[in-house]
Amino acid sequence: PLKKLKDGLFSAPSSKESKDITGFNVNENESTVSITVVGASGDLAKKKIFPALFALYYEGCLPEHFTVYGYARSKMTDAELRDMVSKTLTCRIDKRENCGEKMDQFLQRCFYHSGQYDSQEHFAELDKKLKEHEGGRVPHRLFYLSIPPNIFIDAVRCASSSASSGNGWTRVIVEKPFGRDSESSAALTKALKQYLEEDQIFRIDHYLGKELVENLSVLRFSNLIFEPLWSRQYIRNVQLIFSEDFGTEGRGGYFDNYGIIRDIMQNHLLQILALFAMETPVSLDAEDIRNEKVKVLRSMRPLQLENVVTGQYKSHVRGGITYPAYTDDKTVPKDSLTPTFAAAALFIDNARWDGVPFLMKAGKALHNKRAEIRVQFRHVPGNLYNRNIGTDLDRATNELVIRVQPDEAILLKINNKVPGLGMRLDRSNLNLHYAARYSKEIPDAYERLLLDAIEGERRLFIRSDELDAAWALFTPLLKEIEEKKIIPEYYPYGSRGPVGAHYLAARYKVRWG
Ligand code: NDP
Ligand code: BG6
Repeated sequence: PLKKLKDGLFSAPSSKESKDITGFNVNENESTVSITVVGASGDLAKKKIFPALFALYYEGCLPEHFTVYGYARSKMTDAELRDMVSKTLTCRIDKRENCGEKMDQFLQRCFYHSGQYDSQEHFAELDKKLKEHEGGRVPHRLFYLSIPPNIFIDAVRCASSSASSGNGWTRVIVEKPFGRDSESSAALTKALKQYLEEDQIFRIDHYLGKELVENLSVLRFSNLIFEPLWSRQYIRNVQLIFSEDFGTEGRGGYFDNYGIIRDIMQNHLLQILALFAMETPVSLDAEDIRNEKVKVLRSMRPLQLENVVTGQYKSHVRGGITYPAYTDDKTVPKDSLTPTFAAAALFIDNARWDGVPFLMKAGKALHNKRAEIRVQFRHVPGNLYNRNIGTDLDRATNELVIRVQPDEAILLKINNKVPGLGMRLDRSNLNLHYAARYSKEIPDAYERLLLDAIEGERRLFIRSDELDAAWALFTPLLKEIEEKKIIPEYYPYGSRGPVGAHYLAARYKVRWG
């Protein structure tokens, strides 16, 4: 396959030309990066990819020679692409500075080529244009597949078959969903590997690019006070919570085929869990970290239906406003049973985590928007102060809250004496509130991940064996839910979700945070 790539569009030749398309002299040892956004007319490209590329450019993180190409079927000129992209760029990185000039410079590096995803001829035209921009430099090419998954393979196949050869690298970022179960995911991987080596495939899970998720390992492995406590001996339960205060607006068609378990749990929350629970890696090298993540995923029990609650939001009227039901979306079948909410208890059968429930909760159209990791510690044995806190042992335990978003923070709940005469305890927060502590804007997850892909850093991307292990945990459950046509518990739009989630947690003596 590598040979195929070396011969294909993915790795173009370094020519002997001494001027590039813009008339600049080219030193043959210089390199250039071409970033092609396949599906450039789409929602993700506009919302995330182009703004992230601009942010990287603004911060001086892109190489001196780079070109951005949009590729999609829609007809657009370069000027129209620039106009479309310019509407989504912001100066958020440094609000005091007017970044209009930088925006113009960035937009001048953006181009567009219209083509079909299954046309080798159209990709060959793109190849020709890329070569013109690359001049004689060493050509590195990054392709971002921001298209629906059913056309991934066509796009990769067509792009790779236009003949040429070269010595730069080629990488392909693939967006989720990576299949919808073990079989389809394995088939996708097999098909991709006809054209790409595993180390050229960058499977993106944007939650791994979030600041506080990246910080998880720092917090744990570089602070003596945490790592010794990171086990069943001290931790009572771990909660991974994702909630959105809006429904599937605009993405119902996609969502109905996947549901919340595939959309959020099997990837975003499970990835956080793996990072949280893995053993200490040998080093920070991508393969060492991913080896540990795979080990922990393979130590987990596949999910059991009895440990899962599913829900779907229904219409709700509040303050004179009618909030729609999931099935009110025109792209969703009226009788859809697809869960928009799920809660689950997961277990890791290894020495560190034996018996500790890892509770996941993910839902759309809930009362708030947040993503959090909550670690509830055991109670202090023989606590001298029990009578000062009352009999509610729950209240007396420590809790570490890692608030991934919004308003990033790390909070440690401790018991503290209420100042004054007498002895009364309350629970207070040791509070690391990012906005108060750090003045710099937190980069968007896509910025970090795009930069890593350009730099060849694979740590935050999903390896195929990780993906297999993740699907092995969820596939039997998903099949059972679908075959048995399990009816979700209906919850009002904007509520806290189905009450079943509380019963599930109570079975493991847990209260959701
Ligand atoms: P879109 O549905 O907007 O599709 C992107 C582009 O692909 C479209 O502009 C269209 O371009 C082309 N396209 C769409 N449908 C088809 C089709 N049936 N056949 C051929 N071409 C088609 O997707 P998004 O931008 O929302 O997402 C892109 C990828 O990223 C998907 O895999 C999605 O699951 C994933 N993703 C998206 C997120 C988001 O927030 N949007 C979040 C996380 C992942 P044209 O017609 O011009 O060719
Ligand atoms: C995507 C899901 O992967 O993540 C969406 O497909 C979800 O359904 C989104 O809304 C949430 O991402 P973020 O970064 O806004 O929390």
